[in-house]
Amino acid sequence: MTPQLIDPFARAITYLRVSVTDRCDFRCVYCMAENMTFLPKKELLTLEELDRMCSAFIGLGVEKLRITGGEPLVRKGIMSFFESMSRHLDSGALKELTLTTNGSQLERFADQLYAAGVRRVNVSLDTLDEEKFARVTRWGRLPQVLRGIDAAQKAGMRVKINVVALKGFNEDELFDIVRWCAERDMDLTFIEVMPMGDLGNEDRVGQFWSVKDVRDELEAEYTVTDLVERSGGPARYVRLEESGQKIGFITPLSHNFCESCNRVRMTCTGELYMCLGQEDRADLREALRAHPGDDGPLIEAIHKAIGLKPKGHDFDYSRQRADGQVSRHMSHTGG
Ligand code: 5AD
Ligand code: SF4
Repeated sequence: MTPQLIDPFARAITYLRVSVTDRCDFRCVYCMAENMTFLPKKELLTLEELDRMCSAFIGLGVEKLRITGGEPLVRKGIMSFFESMSRHLDSGALKELTLTTNGSQLERFADQLYAAGVRRVNVSLDTLDEEKFARVTRWGRLPQVLRGIDAAQKAGMRVKINVVALKGFNEDELFDIVRWCAERDMDLTFIEVMPMGDLGNEDRVGQFWSVKDVRDELEAEYTVTDLVERSGGPARYVRLEESGQKIGFITPLSHNFCESCNRVRMTCTGELYMCLGQEDRADLREALRAHPGDDGPLIEAIHKAIGLKPKGHDFDYSRQRADGQVSRHMSHTGG
């Protein structure tokens, strides 16, 4: 299908990330405060509304759908949503249905996800040490996540591990994590910590560790070759010649990817964020709820929102404080 969502900078929007819940069974220190107040249920899009919303975007040329949260797999009934989205894979309109998860529920859901057409899954995992894992996630337990990863691979899904780079926390595990992923044939991406939400400074387990430094450290052990390949997103890739591994680096704080941005994000309440680093958003829930059975106003609202997509974002870590900080938590917009 020809993309119908073209933004003011001539970028075709073909990738939608959807947060299906703001809740999570973990409390990662860089993501949430320990005592989070979550949204009242009625604010959330119902599973049927999520279906209508995503289907409208797919009808407008979105080919890739990533389900996020919070933790998407803690949303009650979420498997029925995945199952219903698989019809768009069957029709060929949707090329990829995927999710980002903390892995805690994967053991339970891996087979059903595969059956719904999910072939790749991103699992967030910052450390292979049980005690450190409990510290960084506060509520998470490592063995459960490792069983989830096993289940996903066994079901036939390709797993990518996302590691948030935290200086003084997982710096010493860099090579262990790289080797562990190679042994299990999993892709690996390092993510720079982003200044999101007010988490209170006492919660900081680690400090900003730039992925440039991660890369430099890798170069001490490996021959690191840049790959030209881009995903339309913020990741840059290198290959470790000795292991053949491809490794991604996400530097959300730089502007280097905005010109190729192909994505928008929807919150679990139906707000569309046109850019991760900007406050610009559009309420799509109103258009959806006010017109049951008529997608016309929703489609119009989507077009209008895409027409407001900004050129780039304003994160800037180069100054002392995190300028350009956005006030919402990651669990609100999804990663
Ligand atoms: N900075 C960087 N990454 C974050 N994530 C959550 N909060 C932050 C943050 N402040 C990551 C998770 C997961 C992905 C969805 O986003 O660890 O890998
Ligand atoms: Fe949950 Fe992911 Fe946030 Fe951790 S980073 S609290 S797993 S949503």
